[in-house]
Amino acid sequence: MVSFIHPAFHLFFLVSFVVKFGRGYLELVNPAWICLTGAMRILSGIQPSGALHLGNFFGMMKPAIELQDQGEALYFIANYHSMTSLFEADQRRRNTWDVALDLLACGFDPKKSILFRQSDVPEVCELAWILTTLTPMGLLERGTSYKDKIARGIAPNHGIFAYPVLMAADILIYDSNIVPVGRDQKQHVEMTRDIAIKFNEAYGDTFIVPEPKIKEETATVPGLDGQKMSKSYGNTIEIFGEEKALRKKIMGLVMDSRTPQEPKPDAEKNLAIQLLKLLADPATAKDYEDRLRAGGLGYGDLKKALFENYWNYFATARAKRADLAANSEHVEQVLKEGAAKARTLAKKVLTRARWACGLD
Ligand code: ADP
Ligand code: TRP
Repeated sequence: MVSFIHPAFHLFFLVSFVVKFGRGYLELVNPAWICLTGAMRILSGIQPSGALHLGNFFGMMKPAIELQDQGEALYFIANYHSMTSLFEADQRRRNTWDVALDLLACGFDPKKSILFRQSDVPEVCELAWILTTLTPMGLLERGTSYKDKIARGIAPNHGIFAYPVLMAADILIYDSNIVPVGRDQKQHVEMTRDIAIKFNEAYGDTFIVPEPKIKEETATVPGLDGQKMSKSYGNTIEIFGEEKALRKKIMGLVMDSRTPQEPKPDAEKNLAIQLLKLLADPATAKDYEDRLRAGGLGYGDLKKALFENYWNYFATARAKRADLAANSEHVEQVLKEGAAKARTLAKKVLTRARWACGLD
């Protein structure tokens, strides 16, 4: 048959077809193809180990929400990980649900990204075992999060020690390119890179080597005591909670003993100012900082302004969360659909890994 189409167009159509529909097939074969054919994959997780706070929000959630428009995003509730530190089943179930509501209320959008519970994709545990066989003990022994827990007197279980391997499996099983996290998780993503490289060297190119994505301005949000805000330090300001209790927490921020009239040349270091910069519009935050620096602004008034800005910042999310809480079937549906999509992706990569290392 005579073709009236120029040969160059055949090639163009073939490439377009592969770009549009081919990722599914090519993913099975080799990750190198994905760079040519796929959208950027973004992945992050958050543990259901307690109420989410401003550190979680500005360090991980807000950057992750912004990234939803820049690629194919997968976000999950890391309930397997929470098993290393939380030992009450009902509490885990409740926390998992609360995190789902928090994420959806804050702007994680199931139309733009895949939201799911980690344990709805059990394939990740098989990959974690495969990876653990290539993970040097020394690498895990150098883990700062592990060392920190030991230093705080927590009796280490094997899950705490192997935590970064499960995290590597989470990341690698979805061919993730970038992982938005706060600074404290940087080392875990670096360990993932080391493990992926080791596997690729041992068994041939199988995994994409991911990059951490850390927003410098909000990499470490300070807590009520000025240390990194963290559930485990008891210094958090929750995203959602009871107004009176939260007002009390913020009004209780400890300041120094300088009088209101004294100029404060170090105003930028003030904890309330640092938090206000996250929560207020830039002009308002600058105005308070300038007034504190010049002298004349009392700490009580500053903390009041911090509370008001904080409370307003999450007003829309708070209303949305109340609606979601009254519509649990919708939330369950979102998680189920997310899990089905995530599982399809995970199975492909696991098939590739099983083949590469000779299990199949
Ligand atoms: P926590 O320390 O309260 O247990 P997680 O370990 O569950 O918090 O952290 C979930 C996500 O939030 C991670 O990406 C982590 O880096 C980020 N994050 C937690 N606390 C902070 C903080 N104070 N500043 C910036 N990011 C944070
Ligand atoms: N370790 C992360 C935390 O405590 C949660 C997590 C589990 C995660 N698996 C992940 C984050 C994969 C990013 C990618 O915050």
